[in-house]
Amino acid sequence: MTEEAFDVVVVGSCMTDLVSQAPRLPKAGETIHGHKFFIGFGGKGANQCIQAARMGAKTAMVCKVGKDFFGENYIQNFKDNGVSTEFVGQTVDSATGAASIIVNDAVKTIFNPAPAIPDLDPEFYRASDVFCCNESEAELLTGVAVASIEDAGRASEELLRRGCSSVIITLGSRGCVVLSAQEPSSPSHHVPTKPVTTVDTTGAGDSFIGALAFYMAHFPTMSLEEMARRANQVAGVSVQTIGTQASYPSKKDLPTDLF
Ligand SMILES: Nc1ncnc2c1ncn2[C@@H]1O[C@H](COP(=O)(O)OP(=O)(O)OP(=O)(O)O)[C@@H](O)[C@H]1O
Ligand SMILES: *[C@@H]1O[C@H](CO)[C@@H](O)[C@H](O)[C@H]1NC(C)=O
Repeated sequence: MTEEAFDVVVVGSCMTDLVSQAPRLPKAGETIHGHKFFIGFGGKGANQCIQAARMGAKTAMVCKVGKDFFGENYIQNFKDNGVSTEFVGQTVDSATGAASIIVNDAVKTIFNPAPAIPDLDPEFYRASDVFCCNESEAELLTGVAVASIEDAGRASEELLRRGCSSVIITLGSRGCVVLSAQEPSSPSHHVPTKPVTTVDTTGAGDSFIGALAFYMAHFPTMSLEEMARRANQVAGVSVQTIGTQASYPSKKDLPTDLF
């Protein structure tokens, strides 16, 4: 094992997506004709890692893949994207992804509670520098119904009370809400995003988190609100084309003022 410092280390899931397009879903036991099939790289942890790597962060993925064609193929995908595979194991068991934790070398932690469980171990809140989730995860965890920006503000306050240092709740086309314990007296900030032509929002949340990890690693003194504003823009690019990782922009595809 070599001693290396990484900007972003992602512990999380790594899945191969087998995507079939068909005019409708088949009924149980029915065989129907599809018109398109493709294999894509997915898994929330791996998605976040790839987005951070494409923006220029030195990244490593910690996960396990199968000892099979898809596993080999995925390891090659990490290598093609400049992600270190030093901590990618191979097993005969299938990979499972319950939650992903991102750690950078400044010991900052982003926790993404996906898929969320209502009785999340309280230690996760206290260990999170940035607790980042979407509307439905925030609702499940806090019990606060999240329909509006104000609701998201209330849910973020509850997550802060549970011990998170800061909270981001992503709100799709409405951007996100940011709240930090450093300024407990100030209310949560809504960070809107520019309207874009939406083609496919799959993986937007992971693009957001990957970009956020990049900013935390490369611009440690930047305010969380500014990081969120920029991560909105990166994720906003990813919704304008089809695919998960296939839609994630690289540094060269992004405006220079994001760097
Ligand atoms: N329609 C959209 N227009 C512009 N930006 C968007 C849109 N949808 C998502 N985004 C961007 O992506 C971020 C994450 O989106 P969202 O809150 O939908 O996450 P998510 O539900 O985890 O996504 P998914 O499960 O589809 O990956 C938003 O905060 C925003 O920056
Ligand atoms: C939030 O993310 C989960 C995956 O963890 C997803 O199932 C859910 O649909 C997302 N919610 C919204 C509102 O996008």
